[in-house]
This record gives sequence, structure tokens and C-alpha cells, in this order.
Amino acid sequence: MKAPKLNLKSLKNKAQKEIKKAPDLKGLNDVFNKYLGKRGQLTQVLRSLKDLPEKKRKKRGKLANEIRREIEEIINEKRKKFKVSGFKLQEEWIDITVPGKKPILGHLHPLTKVKRDVEEIFQSMGFSVVEGPEAETEWYNFDALNIPKEHPARDAWDTFYLKGGLLLRTHTTPVDVRFMEKNNPPLRIIIPGNVFRHEATDPSHEFQLCQVDGLMIGKDISVTNFKAVIGEFFRRFFQKEVRSRLRPDFFPFTEPSFDVSISCVVCGGEGCPTCKNSGWVELAGAGMIHPNVLKNSGLNPKNWQGWAFGFGLDRLAMMKYKIDDIRLFRSGDLRFLNQF
Ligand code: DAH
Repeated sequence: MKAPKLNLKSLKNKAQKEIKKAPDLKGLNDVFNKYLGKRGQLTQVLRSLKDLPEKKRKKRGKLANEIRREIEEIINEKRKKFKVSGFKLQEEWIDITVPGKKPILGHLHPLTKVKRDVEEIFQSMGFSVVEGPEAETEWYNFDALNIPKEHPARDAWDTFYLKGGLLLRTHTTPVDVRFMEKNNPPLRIIIPGNVFRHEATDPSHEFQLCQVDGLMIGKDISVTNFKAVIGEFFRRFFQKEVRSRLRPDFFPFTEPSFDVSISCVVCGGEGCPTCKNSGWVELAGAGMIHPNVLKNSGLNPKNWQGWAFGFGLDRLAMMKYKIDDIRLFRSGDLRFLNQF
């Protein structure tokens, strides 16, 4: 085999540069193989020495061997460095099979849970969930609901008046009107949301609470439909057989109006402190939508009719979880909240 005509000095330079550039042990091994491996360029030079005339062989042999030593040396140097940093990696090695530290997770507020339960049950009965503004106009909160300025019912829904003619809505019922204005019947919706009252607080009164209104409009939607829907809702929500009853009541936006009570889920209707020994708990207001409200929403009362209801989610949560003070929900007291 003829000796390859390689310039040993430029070979050395090239090797040095490549060693410098080698990013890791593997890269370094590649350089080693390229020059000093079995088929490496320098190895081949060394192998071919035997074919040279003696004088040349000695001279070229000496140089080639020197270069080999040098290259070996700097490769070894650099290998050591990589190995040292390799050890560091070992120190920092993590056992990913060790069970991790569990982060402390929060959980849903009881009112959020109840809201989601309610939404799910009504959605399964074909109702859509609709929301509306908390800062409401006087028109939607009162007038459109058949409560004109001087109507005494405004006293029962005293609220916080904001600058610019808005007020904090006292119920979610105004969204009934907003929705009917924009959507054609037949329709069925529920409207969960925060509402506000200007009143002193006690175990059963808060100035902020959560309500859910329901609305069903069609050609011949009646109280019978209401009883069926609300009865099914209570059964699913409390996951037991609960009886419900309607009694006459008054709301300006419904005619006839009734209050909705259920048999006390705490004592099963026997009588206990929660139901004040009556066996019944009032949970909601409801009724057939007043023709004036339909008109105010752009619907003709001759063509359409339907029912609406509204209840406090706080009340519902109190019944479900047997909570005796409504103020606990927004107290931020972890001793209370951690129980859910
Ligand atoms: N908005 C009423 C309240 O806050 C509750 C209510 C009663 C809502 C009857 C209704 C209804 O939609 O038909 O006390």
C-alpha cells in the first residue's frame, strides 16, 4: 500500500481544532476514532511507514509518533474534564421513581359545588345556563318586572345604588327579561349568579347571595310542568325522595305566584329545629310569568306563557350540607371551608 500523502502538520491542526470543538465525550471519541482509531488517518500514516525508504521512514515516523502522542494527550485531558462534569451530573441525579411531594390543592367552595350540581341537573333536562350583569339598570331590575317606581315591593328589594344610574341587582330575575328580548320561545333557561341586598345580616340574611332563576316559555307551559320539573330537580339534587308543595304567594312579576317548599331533608318531615318543627322548608319563589313582563320583553301574552322560579343557592347549600349560618359562606373561615 502506498503511503497517503498527508501533510502531518495540517492533520495535527485539524485534529486539535476538532478536539476543541467536541461538545461531549461522544464527540471526543469520534475525533479519536477519526485520527487514532483502527482506520484513523494518523494510524494509516503510521502503518504505511514501513513502505518508505529508511531515511524518510525515520523522519516521518518520528514526527507522526510525536503528533500521535500530542493528540492522545489533549484528548485524554479533555476526557477528564468531561468526566469530572459527568460526576457532577451524577451528584445531581434525581430518582424519578421516588413518590413526589403532593402539592397542597385547594377545592371548590361549597357554593360553587352546589351551583355546578344545579347547572348539571337542569342541563340534563334541556335547560341552557345563561348569565347577566351584576350591575343592572333600574329598568331591568324593577320596572320591566312590573315593579314601577312607587311600588312598595321595591322596599323588599332595597339595594346599593351606583353612580351613573346603575344598581347592584337584587335578584337574577332581570335576566329573564334580557333573554326573552333577544330569543324567541319556546325556551328554557336557568340563570345562576350573585345578587345583593341592602340589609342587616343575621344567620339567615346576607347582603350578598347566590341565586338561580329558572324560566320556561312555550305555547302551553303550565304549573303542572313546573311541578314536574322542580320535583325532579329536588329529587336529583338531594338524592332522595323529597316532597314539594306550592302555596300562594305574591311577586309582582308572576301571576299567580307561589312559594315552593320541600319536606325537610334533615328530619324527613317529622319536625326539627331546621324546619322550625313544621316539617317543611321554604326554598323558592315561583309563578306564571305576568303578562306585563312578557310585554316588556317583547312577547305577546296571547301567544306565549310560561313559568319562572328563583331560589337562593345559599339556602340550597345550607339544606344540603346542614349549615345553620348563611354568613359562614363568605367568612373566609378555613375551619368552615376545609370541611368540604
Ligand atoms: N326574584 C325573587 C326574589 O329574589 C325570586 C323569584 C320569585 C324569582 C318568583 C322568580 C319568580 O323568577 O317567578 O325573591
